[in-house]
Amino acid sequence: PIQSETLSKNIPESLRDPEGYWFGLTKRARVIMYNKDKVDPNELSTYEDLANPKWRGKVLTRSSSNVYSQSLTASIILAHGIPETEQWARGLVANFARPPEGGDTDQIKAVAAGVGDVALANTYYLPRLIKSDNPEERAVAEKIGVFFPNQQDRGTHVNISGAGILKTAPNKDAAIQFLEFLSGPEAQAIFAQSNNEYPVLPGAEIDSVVASFGTFKEDTINAASIGRVTPDALKVMDRAGWK
Ligand SMILES: [Fe+2]
Repeated sequence: PIQSETLSKNIPESLRDPEGYWFGLTKRARVIMYNKDKVDPNELSTYEDLANPKWRGKVLTRSSSNVYSQSLTASIILAHGIPETEQWARGLVANFARPPEGGDTDQIKAVAAGVGDVALANTYYLPRLIKSDNPEERAVAEKIGVFFPNQQDRGTHVNISGAGILKTAPNKDAAIQFLEFLSGPEAQAIFAQSNNEYPVLPGAEIDSVVASFGTFKEDTINAASIGRVTPDALKVMDRAGWK
């Protein structure tokens, strides 16, 4: 674990390990991406609502073996407990447009192709398509809207890109300085620009495409808590038939 005043000051508490083992450096939101021709964003509200039968056959998401599916489900367990989350997962599975396959980009492409109406996806996947050299990928992106769920309650689930220092690191002091540099305004802007994520440092510059999605309230539950209930999340998804 590392103790650093700079890291503690630059990185919000929810985005770093309480014991100092790891530090989030950029973050991404797990949003609902919807087909703008088919879905009025006023119909969208929460992750919980995606289990509503009104979305039957319309929801696209990755498999339960994917860490994003696991951490989202874990965040719902932390908000509602295991039994309610299992009920939610069953409803979500019943609404799947197809058995889960592929990565987030595949879910976005499936929304654009009309396989389903809404997909769970991390924000940074869409800028990759918007900025693509391939006109077909740009055409996909044009059909997609971004919706930040749970703005009226706990906020949108975020996950992080982060770093820590190995116990065996030969240059520990330099490594700490490097992480401190990465958490500062200049590096945060460069980092977030290059991976299309959100800086963790409040006020750091955001990529213009990412900024165009708008601002949002994020779920500030610590990723360490998410990690603790991930085994429960896996069991819940398994029982609910989330392939
Ligand atoms: Fe990813």
